Amino acid sequence: MYKKKVIISADGSSTIELIGKNEQYHSIHGALQESEHVFIRYGLQQIAQQKKQISILEIGMGTALNVLLSYCYAQKHHLNISYTAIEKYPLSEEILYALNYPKLITDCPQSESIFKLIHNSEWDEQVDVSKTFSLKKIKGDAQNINLQNNHFDLIFHDAFNPDLEPDLWSKELFEKFYFSMKPNGILTTYSTKGIVKRALKSAGFAIEKKPGPIGKREILNAIKKT
Ligand SMILES: C[S@@+](CC[C@H](N)C(=O)[O-])C[C@H]1O[C@@H](n2cnc3c(N)ncnc32)[C@H](O)[C@@H]1O
Repeated sequence: MYKKKVIISADGSSTIELIGKNEQYHSIHGALQESEHVFIRYGLQQIAQQKKQISILEIGMGTALNVLLSYCYAQKHHLNISYTAIEKYPLSEEILYALNYPKLITDCPQSESIFKLIHNSEWDEQVDVSKTFSLKKIKGDAQNINLQNNHFDLIFHDAFNPDLEPDLWSKELFEKFYFSMKPNGILTTYSTKGIVKRALKSAGFAIEKKPGPIGKREILNAIKKT
């Protein structure tokens, strides 16, 4: 896989750059603000208006920033979350120790210890991070994963951009996600590229554009309408 280095984005939060690829794990305009916007505000917050027991799938767990933010949101809003995160290339300890998210997320009690617990939890096992938040980290390729039908309320699609990894944005994979979702489930993602929208639509999703975070005009919600 690519060589990586930790860099600091514009809001002071860390992200990871793929050396020589001009590709980062998050927006350089602010990793934390981007994740809060794309995945929490236009993902978890929307689903939490309908239900309190929520099942999430993340494609590309990476730093686990989205896991931590979901945990924190769930604590604050009394949600019960079952989170499945798929990652093909787990990060080294050296990189994980250099990430500054728990220090920046100050309104979430025990964020430091929870972040450690998330990263130290066993791969391919269901682990209780708290009484109301369970996590299953799957080490593997999102393309080969078997997903239960009618199971997830929310998908965080956070793969590298479609130019770098087109197979993770294909109609075939989106169809698999579609069947794995419950009616009215939302797949939220940062990419609004034409090929992404077309692939999502032909997989059966209804597309809604949403305002983007700082540095980006729009993002996408793909909804499994009933
Ligand atoms: C844009 S980064 C995601 C960042 C992550 N959500 C975070 O907040 O740190 C894309 C992630 O997808 C992972 N990835 C790349 N190809 C994959 C594949 N085929 N299956 C699963 N994960 C993959 C990468 O290793 C990386 O962690």
